[in-house]
Amino acid sequence: MKNKWWREAVVYQLYPRSFMDTNGDGIGDLPGVLARLDYLQWLGITVIWLCPIFRSPNDDNGYDISDYQAIMDEFGTMADFDRLMAETRRRGMRIILDLVVNHTSDEHPWFVESRSARDNSKRDWYVWRDGKEGHPPNNWESIFRGPAWQYDAATGQYFLHLFTARQPDLNWENPDVRSAICDMVRWWMDKGVDGFRIDAITHMKKAPGLPDVPGAPPHRPVPAYDFHMNVDGVLDYVDQMARDAFDHGDIMTVGEANGISAHQAETWVGDTRGRLSMILQFEHWHLWSGNPRAGLDVRRLKTILSRWQRELDGRGWNALYLENHDLPRVVSRWGDSQHHRSASATALAAMYFLMQGTPFIYQGQELGMANTVFHSLADFDDVFAKHRIAEMRASGMDEAAIFDEMALTARDNSRTPMPWDDSHNAGFSTGRPWLPLNPDYPEVNVAQQQRDPHSVLNFYRSMIALRAAEPALVHGHYTLLLRDNPQIYAYTRVLGDDGFVVICNLSARPARYRHAGFTLRRADCILANMKVASHDDLMSFALSEYEVRVYRISPQGSDNLN
Ligand code: GLC
Ligand code: CA
Repeated sequence: MKNKWWREAVVYQLYPRSFMDTNGDGIGDLPGVLARLDYLQWLGITVIWLCPIFRSPNDDNGYDISDYQAIMDEFGTMADFDRLMAETRRRGMRIILDLVVNHTSDEHPWFVESRSARDNSKRDWYVWRDGKEGHPPNNWESIFRGPAWQYDAATGQYFLHLFTARQPDLNWENPDVRSAICDMVRWWMDKGVDGFRIDAITHMKKAPGLPDVPGAPPHRPVPAYDFHMNVDGVLDYVDQMARDAFDHGDIMTVGEANGISAHQAETWVGDTRGRLSMILQFEHWHLWSGNPRAGLDVRRLKTILSRWQRELDGRGWNALYLENHDLPRVVSRWGDSQHHRSASATALAAMYFLMQGTPFIYQGQELGMANTVFHSLADFDDVFAKHRIAEMRASGMDEAAIFDEMALTARDNSRTPMPWDDSHNAGFSTGRPWLPLNPDYPEVNVAQQQRDPHSVLNFYRSMIALRAAEPALVHGHYTLLLRDNPQIYAYTRVLGDDGFVVICNLSARPARYRHAGFTLRRADCILANMKVASHDDLMSFALSEYEVRVYRISPQGSDNLN
């Protein structure tokens, strides 16, 4: 039985390109991460998830790998990585890597060989098919838009790419591919890394025969998720990775799991299955992306997150997150970055962070960073953004509408360089940053927030310390309160005699908290994002816009907890 150290962990998702540049080329690098390790330690982080650091032509910022066992030139050398790992350890923290194995770069030697001839021994390492009367082999659309197939004139066939045409999908049906990947994973484990976040894991299996999506107009690519996401048999690949690689160490594994429902989660992360430590689910993400202009529907959010809490309690483990490098900033999506930036950032923070599971913080989230400011369509750097812009233009949409859509939803929003202080380029680089800084950096930066005891950053730091000190906040049962309240997200966490109630007003309007289950005493308020007004009465009180309070309660004396 493994000790499951990762249940107590607090993970910091670090986007190296934008974290800290030490050589003035405007691109963050591994010596930059090293230079800022003390900051992460000060914050209370115990695990650093490094977004891809491997050699890559950077079509998709490192999610297109051309050598799994070398460091990206701009980021430094393997010696830099070894030093970073040693120094991270020395500070009591660990490192997990981003394992991108659904696809490689088209510059990976495996693919270079594979495309060289139909009879090359690596041909079958990727997915090659003949076209159909001058059209792609089927009508699948790429997740990044356009057809999921690219014609390769050299050998007269098409190859499959679920993401960009420079990210050809590996053929996981091929046992040689699976064992090459497991060997590579073992190599990093032998080096001492503490785990992996596995990119696009639910896409590794494609529907047998690669059938057309039925009922679609001819020769037009259409979304094909049913045929390449969570397809029956994908768990066999996960099992092999667990058996031949992950299980050989005491590591943390986190699957990026689009398409998995709370109900299915147990098969992926259940204690008795021994597959993955946890998965990053997409249901609350889709609550936003389904209607990015709608603002937060607190009731639906409660339904989704409570379902995940319930399904895995005592059976598996949740990964808790609000932000990542693929999503715009959460204060801009669900908070109020204009009028209540700090309050909404901290209310959202307490809401997700104190649930049962391992919390992830995405770089800059701890400052309550908001979306950045774009001036024209030329400002969007991300390859997915470029594809979407081309698609919208082709459909005849007008430029202003395209711009609005992109400013609201583009991944570039969360990829701006880390603002360390209010100096030139925010202390990120002495050169010209690869992506412009968020223009609000003179006000929103690490140095300023370290000084301010009421900052978002210090709120995160207190929250992390509180969780570290209270096993109930890690392992305790979760019970949702006030299910139908449209403004307040409130829940309890109970472990034996210890209990907490977390109360978050997630709206820009005052709210009234009323609950008869237990007594809340002012002296027991152990975390808050504003000065707590004296209670008018212990079971009912007013909350300001985006006010959050966490109270210690004694589960014994209450009738409403189970
Ligand atoms: C994952 C990554 C994303 C990347 C894609 C293709 O979704 O999080 O950034 O573009 O996979 O690798
Ligand atoms: Ca650099």
